[in-house]
Amino acid sequence: MSQTIAPPPRFTTICEMHELPIGLGRSFRIGEQSVAVFRTRTGKVFAVANECPHKGGPLADGMLAGEQVVCPLHTFRFDSTSGECDQPGVCAVATFPVEVVDGFVRIGITA
Ligand code: FES
Repeated sequence: MSQTIAPPPRFTTICEMHELPIGLGRSFRIGEQSVAVFRTRTGKVFAVANECPHKGGPLADGMLAGEQVVCPLHTFRFDSTSGECDQPGVCAVATFPVEVVDGFVRIGITA
């Protein structure tokens, strides 16, 4: 029996840590993927797809509520770790691994 294993993510440096405003989002394009990156007040950096799975709102323009992203269009909330939505029937937003190396923020995208 064979098992399909997803390839490891490929990390791309997007900016320096100090370029991420605390409590706000910034959008970055990595290849074909638009990514919304946030830095929380506790210093956590996370990345989600920059397109809300509800009706396509730009999540980078949303607000943070703790470690949840609040979509600017209809205020649905998405968990920063799982991408799960707080509204029933709305699928999760894609999340991406983040690492900070020597002050540089790197996002992992699986090809
Ligand atoms: S488009 Fe994001 S909650 Fe509706």
